Amino acid sequence: MNFDTLIKNGIVVTATDTYPADIGISKGKIVAVGQALPAETATKTFDAQGNFVFPGGIDVHTHLDMPFGGTKSADDFESGTTAAAFGGTTTLIDFAIQYKGQTLRTALDTWWKKADGKAVIDYGFHCIVTDLPDARLEEMKSLVHEGITSFKLFMAYPGVFMVEDGLIFKAMLKASETNSLICMHAENGSAIDVIVQRALAEGKTAPKYHALTRPTTAEAEATGRAIALAEMAGAPVYIVHLSCNEALEKVREARDRGLPTYAETCPQYLYLSLENFDVPGFEGAKYVFTPPLREKWHQEKLWNGLAADHLQVVSTDHCPFCYKEQKELGKDDFTKIPNGGPGIEHRLSLVYTGGVQTKRFSVNRFVELVATAPAKLFGLYPRKGTIAVGSDADLVIFDPNREAVISAKTHHMRVDYSMFEGIRVKGMPRQVFSRGQLVIDNNKFVGRVGQGEFLKRQSYNSP
Ligand code: URP
Ligand code: ZN
Ligand code: ZN
Repeated sequence: MNFDTLIKNGIVVTATDTYPADIGISKGKIVAVGQALPAETATKTFDAQGNFVFPGGIDVHTHLDMPFGGTKSADDFESGTTAAAFGGTTTLIDFAIQYKGQTLRTALDTWWKKADGKAVIDYGFHCIVTDLPDARLEEMKSLVHEGITSFKLFMAYPGVFMVEDGLIFKAMLKASETNSLICMHAENGSAIDVIVQRALAEGKTAPKYHALTRPTTAEAEATGRAIALAEMAGAPVYIVHLSCNEALEKVREARDRGLPTYAETCPQYLYLSLENFDVPGFEGAKYVFTPPLREKWHQEKLWNGLAADHLQVVSTDHCPFCYKEQKELGKDDFTKIPNGGPGIEHRLSLVYTGGVQTKRFSVNRFVELVATAPAKLFGLYPRKGTIAVGSDADLVIFDPNREAVISAKTHHMRVDYSMFEGIRVKGMPRQVFSRGQLVIDNNKFVGRVGQGEFLKRQSYNSP
């Protein structure tokens, strides 16, 4: 058998196994996993001695080139997917937004155009639904046929994205019928709005009030409500960017009852806290995203939730806005600060460092959280998310001993600050392959803009 590429002497890690093996790649696919595969039959050989080989990371929550908060997220599909690749992510699922009065198809067409010819790794889309008259419900089915097998709904951001319970319930019924998955932004937006207006009236306009006006109870209440609506509809539900213990408890209880309830958290909730607002002047704006940062004790609860499978996925909710000119839009009023933070590049290193290096969970659980579970939940498995004969050769040669300090000076996201500035990570990608093509080689981009392909995802199938 001839290989285009052979990765030799690595420690192959999947969600279930860890073993030394060589990996043979041909035409973008893994065609052999075995001992002592013959190097002379390969065009290119990489020696992975002393390194892990992981399936490429899958980030199921990103917002590239997204209009929001009176501006647009700072990474487009070229810069965002390039930064993702630097960090070992080889697939992402972004959000196509349906605005009021539009068809769902319009949303998809718009986001296809944004990504086409720009992405350097493969990508899919969820559809954000904001307007769903009965006549449009059927369109969910046609999107599922196009490979858009998940829909995001918002219980927050009144007047922008928020939808009411009746719409949520109808969408869940349709999701159950079409084997698709509802992703929920769970915060009680109406109650939060009252708290926000009261804070503004009291002259509380600084960035930290974004966090202080969005209590954990508002997230827990909405999480519980989303789960209850999904239970009534007989549908699965996936809670996005879960940030606090109270919401986690709702997910845990539902899962203990056997409901198909899933949730993700993000590195910012694992590493950052309200203490990050103790910075001079307006700099707290760098940490304005939604749900907000919480008291520090929540972090350990979230790490425990990841270890115990109460949480299934770590995504980034990458939604970058530059501090200068973008975050500054809210200098006099925290409600005008565009919500979101940059994180697409550092997910694997942060989760590996905080999870595996600190022995909170195994390297297999790490792979499950950043690649396998997202692939299974979002209709990409086994094409993506594992190392097996027949899978796409999306692979990361990962050096568990390589260290770095995260900084905006060295990152590749198109944004002028880092949420994780100064945090030391141990464990970083050395080479990254997307469908067998080397895209990152020792911290150098060697891929091709536009080589990323749209992924038509399979329908939701209980993992
Ligand atoms: O602050 C955030 N998370 N911005 C992105 C939009 C969202 O709610 O996911
Ligand atoms: Zn959200
Ligand atoms: Zn988001």
